[in-house]
Amino acid sequence: MTKITTQVRGMGSYLPERVMTNEEMATIVDTSDEWIVQRTGIRERHLAADGEMTSDLCLKASERALEAAGMTAADIDLIIVATTTPDQTFPATAAILQTKLGMSHGMAFDIQAVCSGFVFALTTADTYLRTGLAKRALVVGAETFSRILDWTDRTTCVLFGDGAGAMVVEAVETGDDAESGILASSLRTDGAHWKKLYVDGGVSSTGTVGHVHMEGREVFKHAVGMISDVIEDVLEKTGKTTEDLDWFVPHQANKRIIDGAGRKLGIPEEKTIVTVDRHANTSAASVPLALSVAVADGRIKKGDLVMIEAMGGGFTWGASLIRW
Ligand code: ACO
Repeated sequence: MTKITTQVRGMGSYLPERVMTNEEMATIVDTSDEWIVQRTGIRERHLAADGEMTSDLCLKASERALEAAGMTAADIDLIIVATTTPDQTFPATAAILQTKLGMSHGMAFDIQAVCSGFVFALTTADTYLRTGLAKRALVVGAETFSRILDWTDRTTCVLFGDGAGAMVVEAVETGDDAESGILASSLRTDGAHWKKLYVDGGVSSTGTVGHVHMEGREVFKHAVGMISDVIEDVLEKTGKTTEDLDWFVPHQANKRIIDGAGRKLGIPEEKTIVTVDRHANTSAASVPLALSVAVADGRIKKGDLVMIEAMGGGFTWGASLIRW
């Protein structure tokens, strides 16, 4: 007997050129490098240039992921972009990316699950691939979050940045007992929490884009428990324990949340990939950005067992276990 599994073929990422350090942030709002580093672990963030859109960030990350996979856009038949900051209200940023890649075949759509977007998008691609709806997918997390920040609100503007990460996955027929590719995922949403982290504008409410509002302490309070919940679910589904993990690649929102989840689950710091210091919280882009860094520097290798997770607005939260 055989089964179809979703295998990772390549990673790519892109951060806009413009870097804003905590020191520069302190010239805009009443904050300090010391406060930001101590509470979040963030040292700098990247900001998209005027006229540089989410689809432009997607394109650069996607070209790098395709190159790493040894493929071209012609090989792809599904594009999913996870973003909270699309170029336009419609069409989907994935459709704009598709044409920027020179493709007109296959299908392309966006997923909106805020910071959990990449995990939701990858799980969706995995389902399409395993059911035969597509053969090779480009899954992208990309944000121009700087465009929805209130740059006078120090409680939010210091936390976020812009960027993109992309992954190429392929459906492969394997033996029934083979353990490779995406092994299991767990996704959750509880909309009762939406007012704890939201944007105060939208197409059908205000007709404006709006700005990010967050009850930081409330988000913090829920984050570690929710992250642990989906990770434990994935481990149970696969019969694994945290000791089996080679790498833990969490959503890069806040070093204290990452440390808290690691402690609760018993995952040592040496196995945890942390890049939040370099790009702040890039929402849907954060997990593929961190994965790209760890693949490029040789930490994540073929055969490694990798746990990814994210939690964000909605609330949404999710995890996937991948045999690389
Ligand atoms: N610089 C300096 N002081 C600040 C800043 C700032 N940027 N922001 C807030 N403060 C002040 C507050 O005004 C407050 O002052 P006061 O005591 O005089 O009233 C003091 O610092 C403490 O404020 P708190 O909000 O209690 O600070 P806290 O220790 O909770 O840290 C933080 C705030 C970092 C936002 C924290 O709550 C947190 O990490 N929450 C999780 C939020 C998060 O990561 N969200 C990302 C999106 S969701 C996700 O991706 C999971």
